Amino acid sequence: MNTRLLTNSKEDIKAAAEILKNGGLAAIPTETVYGLAADALNASAVSSIFEAKGRPSDNPLIVHISSIDDIEKFGLVREFPKSARLLAEKFWPGPLTIVMPKSDLVPKETTGGLDSVALRMPSHPVAREIIKAAGCPLAAPSANLSGSPSPTTAQHVLADMRGRIPAVVEGGSCEVGLESTVITVCTEIPTVLRPGKVTLEELRDVLGQVNLSRAVLEELKEGEEAASPGMKYKHYSPKARVYLVKGSDMAFSCYVNTKEPQSTAALCYDSDVTALHCHTLSLGDKNDFEAQAHNLFAALREADSIEGVDTIYVRCPGTQGLSMALFNRLIRAAGFQVITLRGEGYRLIGLTGPTGSGKSHASRVFAQKGFAVVNADEIAHKALTLPECIEKLTRAFGKEILSPDGSVCRKALGSIAFSSEENTQKLNEITHPVIADLCEEEFDLLCSEGASSIVLDAPTLIESGLHNICDRVVSVISPAQTRLERIMARDGITREKALERMSAQQDDEFYKEHSQYMLTNDTSLEDFTEKAEKLAEELL
Ligand code: TXA
Ligand code: MG
Repeated sequence: MNTRLLTNSKEDIKAAAEILKNGGLAAIPTETVYGLAADALNASAVSSIFEAKGRPSDNPLIVHISSIDDIEKFGLVREFPKSARLLAEKFWPGPLTIVMPKSDLVPKETTGGLDSVALRMPSHPVAREIIKAAGCPLAAPSANLSGSPSPTTAQHVLADMRGRIPAVVEGGSCEVGLESTVITVCTEIPTVLRPGKVTLEELRDVLGQVNLSRAVLEELKEGEEAASPGMKYKHYSPKARVYLVKGSDMAFSCYVNTKEPQSTAALCYDSDVTALHCHTLSLGDKNDFEAQAHNLFAALREADSIEGVDTIYVRCPGTQGLSMALFNRLIRAAGFQVITLRGEGYRLIGLTGPTGSGKSHASRVFAQKGFAVVNADEIAHKALTLPECIEKLTRAFGKEILSPDGSVCRKALGSIAFSSEENTQKLNEITHPVIADLCEEEFDLLCSEGASSIVLDAPTLIESGLHNICDRVVSVISPAQTRLERIMARDGITREKALERMSAQQDDEFYKEHSQYMLTNDTSLEDFTEKAEKLAEELL
């Protein structure tokens, strides 16, 4: 089959529409990625999409419309729920797909046998014109071969589809560069199935509560069912092996520079390029997530086309806002392989000890000696403000832990979470990974500002497992009687209360077992300060 490259002229758009009307396929530009379109209400046309892409037929397609009225005009849904209407009014035309209960008019081929249909009104003018001219809703998955990165230019489409489809319409490079956000309103609480340009935070602003499907950020266990079939397949993946690399700027370049430069490509940020010896492809400025989204798929394809390159190392994005979509695509491209680096750029000293031991004083001494200090308590407070954390906590402990404004009420959370060992464990399982991630981010930031020695001041350093990422652990201990007096004076509490607090803490043996250095605070403050200063100098 000869594949025609059509322009966006009136005649060419008409030609594409004719192909579609007659049950044929045409690749069309949208603001997210190029789509491989067919008449969504024509079962045999839709079947040929799966064939051309080599896509499993249980993976449902998105149905594209050119106005909200098309939903009624073509009778696409059994019900247009209020939440869906709110979202459509706010985000359409644009990169949001809404899954709703389907009508009988939508063939099961289009929805992969599901009882729901995914609808989207793209904002790309060429896409809208083609839908209008075709006079039917268009089913369109991304126009790549199944499994490979989505196409963001007409050339990408041709690279995958030449000879397999009759036409590609040229529409320039896709502005967003990542596929639309997919949200379903068929669940009791609307749920994001695939993150995209429209973020979880923006969706919550419109609907209040919105859940995040587990498959978005984590690998599904074997046999576990995906709410969105697309999330279970290997995806976005070039031929070369892709690794996500988590770590500071310096750690990333040091690590990648240990690899054979000819067979290695790095997908990095502008500021990394000069430090790297291998082939580099910048996704843009480190803080410009829109640029990174726009460039990601093109960069994956380009890295793959460099002769001799068999491994691609990619900087691991965060999971907030638009970064969540970048992470979601990359973690799949990497087959869930993440390499976590640490320590090359800086030395990390963990500082811990029971309450009243003098840990905070030691921390101040270390700061005076030139250490950058990260306070784990402050990080833990920050963790409780993150939407992903709040969501998991409310799911575990109920809405009682929330203040009227939707933020976490720490007192309410504490009284529930510490009421039983099981609850405490649940709390830790939710918060510890988030705290660890935030700590890493903070270390990176300090490192990029020039810090080479960092103290992580954490009362439960060892209990939380954070000591495992430290190069050295320092524990401050002090005799029980001295601690008792200090706690009573410092916090203005009774002897009983102070004893109760102390009884919940670990004994000296526990600290000795997990630390390389012990700072004993058992004589005078001057003496203790001197000891701490000496140790700080030794560790610098
Ligand atoms: O930006 C986009 O959405 C692009 C452009 C062309 O519009 N299209 C696209 O389609 O990315 P595709 O087929 O590559 O991805 C569709 C995703 C899949 O993950 C699929 O499982 C999910 O949407 N999906 C479609 N219908 C669904 C349904 N009824 N229920 C749950 N998930 C659905
Ligand atoms: Mg796709």
